[in-house]
Formats: sequence, structure tokens, C-alpha cells
Amino acid sequence: MDPLLREAAKEFMVRYGGDSFPSLFRSAKGCIVTDDTGREILDFTSGQMCATIGHNHPAIVQAVQEAGEKAYHLFSGMIPEVVAQLARTMARDWMPRGLSKSIFINTGSESNEVALRMAKMHTQGYEVLAVGGSWHGVTGAASAASFASDRKGYGVHVPGVFVMPEPNMYRPYIGGLDGEASALACLELGLKMFDMASTGRRAAIIIEPIISAGGVLVPPRSYLQALRKAADERGMLLIFDEAQTAFGRIGHRHAADFFGVTPDIMSVSKTMGGGLPLAAVSTTPKIEQDIHDKGFTFYTSHVSDPLPATVGLAVLRTIQQEGLIERARTMGAYLRQRLQELQSRYEAIGDVRGEGMLLGVELVKSRETREPYHALGAITTQRCYELGLSMNIRRRPERGSVWRIAPPLTATQGEIDRGVDILDQALRHSLDEIARNRLIAA
Ligand SMILES: Cc1ncc(COP(=O)(O)O)c(C=O)c1O
Repeated sequence: MDPLLREAAKEFMVRYGGDSFPSLFRSAKGCIVTDDTGREILDFTSGQMCATIGHNHPAIVQAVQEAGEKAYHLFSGMIPEVVAQLARTMARDWMPRGLSKSIFINTGSESNEVALRMAKMHTQGYEVLAVGGSWHGVTGAASAASFASDRKGYGVHVPGVFVMPEPNMYRPYIGGLDGEASALACLELGLKMFDMASTGRRAAIIIEPIISAGGVLVPPRSYLQALRKAADERGMLLIFDEAQTAFGRIGHRHAADFFGVTPDIMSVSKTMGGGLPLAAVSTTPKIEQDIHDKGFTFYTSHVSDPLPATVGLAVLRTIQQEGLIERARTMGAYLRQRLQELQSRYEAIGDVRGEGMLLGVELVKSRETREPYHALGAITTQRCYELGLSMNIRRRPERGSVWRIAPPLTATQGEIDRGVDILDQALRHSLDEIARNRLIAA
């Protein structure tokens, strides 16, 4: 380890928010990341939810090599062969029927900029309806439609964005109703408020079909069906942001398949590049033709770059060859069962939810009151890290304290067992520590 490098990171880097670690990191392979001391840590966040086929999968390494022999980057007007190949593969094998036209860019934020610009151009409207707890990115229009992140301090957001309460099945916003009825009532109320405030220039409804950063909230199917109907009735396009849910993570090709609801525009990103910056937006030929006729542009330095496209093709091929969609279902079921075992032993685990290998574990002070247990979440996450497990905790006062657990789909049963055992040990330790501190304080 070079201690001067840790100092350099402190001295020369801008801090960009989120939790950061005391050490630096050297390498990553499969489900394991290695820090600057050589310590190995189980990665239950798949990096930034991207490494679904495992870090530095040989297919990715080979794809980078292949692109190196051909081209990493070209003039944006020169469509690389490999990009045409990726577009065809997406249309034939991956996207919902009808969403056969795709554009390839780099990040999730950017994909939602594209999606929203498409919707605005097509409808000639500008109003966007989003849900609470959403995270669509940090750039202009995407951040304006995001409500899980902190919106304060950056001046005026893009106008025309409306928010409605998210469908939270565990802590329904509307008392006296069950989760599904509350979710549908929230939608009805949200739409009423939107209709009241709308200037009539409506463009899109945007949603993560599973609201991840907002606490791994899985809406009932009826909610997404009702959203589809609401968009149609208002002449708005329905955008699914499938940054985290597409390409096998939830045990299906994407959430549109899982919920049986097809959007007009789908943005995909994180899980497509397996850790390299690749994103895409897919829509129908009809919408594509219309926006093209109206002069649609999204011309960036890295649109249609061959390097990420080569990697993306390799990722999609690997998901198919290794049966990772099926594996997300079976390993996800196993992981969920292990977490439910923990829930049966710890009162503080109020809820285990999610789909496939995208799971949420919500911590509460009491199962009856469902009061969020933020302190336990913070201490346990830290303790897990010390014991060799990296996990992500979402903590918002209004939305509870939720671990998002999403190992690579390639994680072995042994790795899952090790991760859950560490979590068990860390939880026990944290609860003992909290009890001890309470005794001392008394
Ligand atoms: C659902 C969703 N959409 C969009 C984004 C933004 O993606 P990026 O960070 O690649 O810009 C994220 C990132 O966390 C996300 O979770």
C-alpha cells in the first residue's frame, strides 16, 4: 500500500457525495473487490449496480481487447459495424416487441435526457410526471425528474416536472388501505393533482418500474397497468427507466416483461455495459420517424462509440450463454430465503422484498410501528464492511432505512452464504452495541 496515494485522493480529488471508504481500491474480479492493502471484500452492490456478469468477466476483457484491435472511438456520424450489430441484437432478442429503434450513449443520466427529449419532441409538450423516490440521474432534465436525491442548492430545476407519491407497499401513504389499494389511490390522487396543475402541454410519465434508490419498491402490476392507461388517456408517452432492472437482474429480460406492460420508450444503462459506460434508449419506429422528421438530435462525442458497444454485445451474449436470467431467479430465491431466515431471528428486519437479485431489506425499530431504524442501518453497514462485505444502505427519513442487496448474477452459493453470514454477525454485533450504549446512558 502507498499511503501517499490515500493522501493524494484527499488532497486532489473533488468529493462527489455518497458514502466513501477509508481505503483506496486496486482491482475487482467476479464478486470480489480488493483494496489497497490487498484485503478482499464481497461486493453485494455489483459496483454501482452495473457488474451483473461479475467484475472483469473474461468476455468483457476480451471485448475490450477486440475493440482495441478495431476501434475504440469514431466520428459520431460513422456508424460502427458493431453498433449496427448491437442495435439488431437489442431489437431481436432483448427489447419488448415494438421498441426496435435504439440509440447508444454512455450513462443512465444521459439515457433519460434522451428519453425525455424524445418524448418532448414527439408530443411537442414539456410536462413530465414522475414518482417520489425516483432516481433518474444528475443531469438537467433527469435530475429535475428525480426525487430520491437531494434537490437543494443547484438553483432552478427544469420547469414542468410534477411528482406524485410513489407506490410503497410496505409503508402505504394512505392509511387504512392495503399496499395495492394505497398505491392505486396514490396514483389516482397524483393524477388528479397533475391534471389540475397541467397547462395541457403534457409529454411523459417516467418511472423506474422497480423504484430502487427510493427503497427497492416493487409496485403491484395493477399500478403499472394503470400508469400505462393514464399516459394513453393524456397523450403522454410512458418511459420506463430500466437502468437497474434490464438484462436479467430481476430474473427476467426486463421489468416490462415482468410486469407485462410495454412503455413507449425504454432507457437502459448500468446493466448493459457490465461496468463500462454504455447506455441505450429504445422506442418504436413510429416515434423515431416522427422525431426525426421534427429534427431530433442527440449528437454527442461518444454516441455510437464502438468500444462500449463491443462490450455490451459481449455482456448480452454472456447473459444468454451462462443462463444468468434463470440464475438470477434461482440464486435470488436462495438469497431471499436466507434473508427471510434472518428476518425470523431479528425483529429489526421489517421487510424483505424485491425481485430476482435486486432485493431490499428494511430495518425498523418495531415491526408494529415500522419506525425506521437508521442508526442500526448505519452501524451494521460499517460493521459488514469491516468484516468483508460491501452493501449499500438507502436512508431517507421519509422512506425508511433499506439495504439494497444486489450481488453479481454470477455470485456462487458460497459467496451468498458468506455475505449473509457476515450480515448476521454484523447485525448481532450492532444490536449488542446499541443495547450496551443504552445501558451506559441509563
Ligand atoms: C434507475 C436509475 N436511472 C438512472 C440512473 C443514473 O445513471 P448514471 O449514474 O449512470 O448517470 C441511476 C443511477 O443510479 C439509476 O439508478
